[in-house]
Amino acid sequence: MSTQVILQGFVVLHLIGLLLFAGTSVADFAGYRQFWKQYSLDKSKAAVMLQTVGGFHILMRIGIGLIILSGIGLMYMTHGVFGEQLWFRVKFGLVILIILNTFLYGRRQKILLEKSIAGPETGIQKIKENIRLFHIVQLLIVFIILLLSVFKFN
Ligand code: HEM
Repeated sequence: MSTQVILQGFVVLHLIGLLLFAGTSVADFAGYRQFWKQYSLDKSKAAVMLQTVGGFHILMRIGIGLIILSGIGLMYMTHGVFGEQLWFRVKFGLVILIILNTFLYGRRQKILLEKSIAGPETGIQKIKENIRLFHIVQLLIVFIILLLSVFKFN
């Protein structure tokens, strides 16, 4: 198999990972918007919705895992040349930020929400604002990473 085909194979895997991660991030954002609408009307129905939306984080994990593994493959196949370039360094920093945002900040807020609606409702408004902030940061970073990756500004 030629190196060009292997490189293209990693790009395909990278884009499948992106599709999964960015796709579920948008679905998560839309799902939580629906959840809050339902929450003000019928709390028990909203709790069922939350279970469905709650499953998205597994797909996000698979997506980011695929992105990172194929990204390492791309670095290997391109002999690390991009590692020297500014766009890649900024992108790498943003990838770390998005991982922290997803698995530390976002996940924590969602667990707090699940606990809060299962028991006595405490600080639900604050959690709502935090989850909104999580989504804004998430989608903004994905967009900037996409711009950097495609235009490769230097
Ligand atoms: C959320 C995280 C990420 C997103 C959304 C993303 C997205 C993309 C996109 C859209 C491209 C352009 C593909 C093309 O031009 O054909 C790309 C290229 C690339 N990515 Fe990522 N990426 C991410 C994370 C990573 C990571 C963690 C690494 C390295 C460990 C990496 C390494 C690379 C390399 C080396 C290229 C250039 C490939 C080439 O043009 O030959 N990416 N990325």
